[in-house]
Amino acid sequence: MQSNRESIHGTWSSRWTFILAATGSAVGLGNIWKFPYMAGDNGGGAFVLVYLACIAIIGLPIMLGEIMIGRRGRSSPANTMKILAIEAKASKAWTLLGATGALAGLLILSFYSVAAGWALSYVFNGFQNITAESSTASFNELLSSPTSLIFWHTLFLVITIFIVARGILEGLEKWINTLMPMLFVIVLLLCIYSTQTGAFFEGLVYLFQPDFSKITPEVMLEALGQAFFTLSLGMGAIMAYGAYMPADQNIGKTAISVAALDTGVALLAGIAIFPIVFANGLAASEGPGLVFVTLPIAFSSMPFGVFFGTLFFILLSIAALSSSISLIEPGVAWLIESLKIKRITATLGLGLVAWSLGILSALSFNLLGEFTIFGRNFFDATDFLTNQIMLPLGGIFIAIFVGWKMKKEDVLEELKIKEGLLFKLWYFSVRYISPVMVGCVFLYFFF
Ligand code: PFF
Repeated sequence: MQSNRESIHGTWSSRWTFILAATGSAVGLGNIWKFPYMAGDNGGGAFVLVYLACIAIIGLPIMLGEIMIGRRGRSSPANTMKILAIEAKASKAWTLLGATGALAGLLILSFYSVAAGWALSYVFNGFQNITAESSTASFNELLSSPTSLIFWHTLFLVITIFIVARGILEGLEKWINTLMPMLFVIVLLLCIYSTQTGAFFEGLVYLFQPDFSKITPEVMLEALGQAFFTLSLGMGAIMAYGAYMPADQNIGKTAISVAALDTGVALLAGIAIFPIVFANGLAASEGPGLVFVTLPIAFSSMPFGVFFGTLFFILLSIAALSSSISLIEPGVAWLIESLKIKRITATLGLGLVAWSLGILSALSFNLLGEFTIFGRNFFDATDFLTNQIMLPLGGIFIAIFVGWKMKKEDVLEELKIKEGLLFKLWYFSVRYISPVMVGCVFLYFFF
């Protein structure tokens, strides 16, 4: 019974905390910044439909598997994989899954921190007299300034490093408790504002009426990658958090709550944003600047907009922080366990790597704009490599490990359930559906 052991990094103080921490990891820029602009880039309803299907059919079962692995191994993802591979008499090469996951986390953190820096800088936007033109112009101005981008990126990473170096178990719990619900309330408020824009219905139709002719291999891969990214799956973040989960917590219910909260926030963000886009004659396919261009327009024209706008971007930055922490934690925990170094040294080392790569991402909007890898600038190339390749691949391997390598008795023991219908459905999904579907999307896209 591995799960009754404690992790050397500690255990969350209550059941709620795992849900909050995992939700904190899941809810972030992926929901409020990335989901709306990807939906806009990929034709709205068709993308949203495939995305929701990916969450329900592939993401949720893999999330359950990833949490279960984490709790059974009770270590950093790399060591957890090693421990469980030994238990399952599988090859020790499975350790690599944890190691590549930690690398993916670092790569994601490098560009995530640049985008989180945009959110931080918008805290000081002012939100007064903003029009569609002026809003577009100020976002472009931010992108064109290497010093501003690097400044905000650095500030965001320094805060992340500070929190992770102190140990996430203490810092995180208190914060997430109050701040996440506040973000939820402001997004709801924005939805109410959107009902007054005159384009609410148009926004809803755009988001929820699928045009099936728009479902291409590319849209499928983007939706799949976004499902993994938004749920923080496939790289060990949720596994690392699972290692701190109390032994008697119900993993299935927990995974459903986290996935539902995360999806709810993304959809609400879309419902808030698209009516503002259409009411102001902006393009839905505006790209990464979508929320940064649209929301200031809304704040500047609503009562107490300065207050709400400032608060919104503070909360968005904090939501990004609770995600960035989970991006670096798998690598940090691994270095501490394997090299026996101090938490602060491990965090600083990895933070420095993410910072350096992030500089290249920041410069890809200006000085290095001409430098492309397979037609993408550095920011987009890192995003593509991690979200659309590394995370789904990590997810396939997690599913295969749970479905084919771990002994079924061990899985049942860790989940603390009997072999009922729900278990059978889930087990079938991790053994067959998830690997086959992800594999098909890959084949479809690349060949
Ligand atoms: N899920 C986070 C978001 O939606 O912003 C991003 C993220 C965090 C992705 C942790 C992956 C991860 F491991």
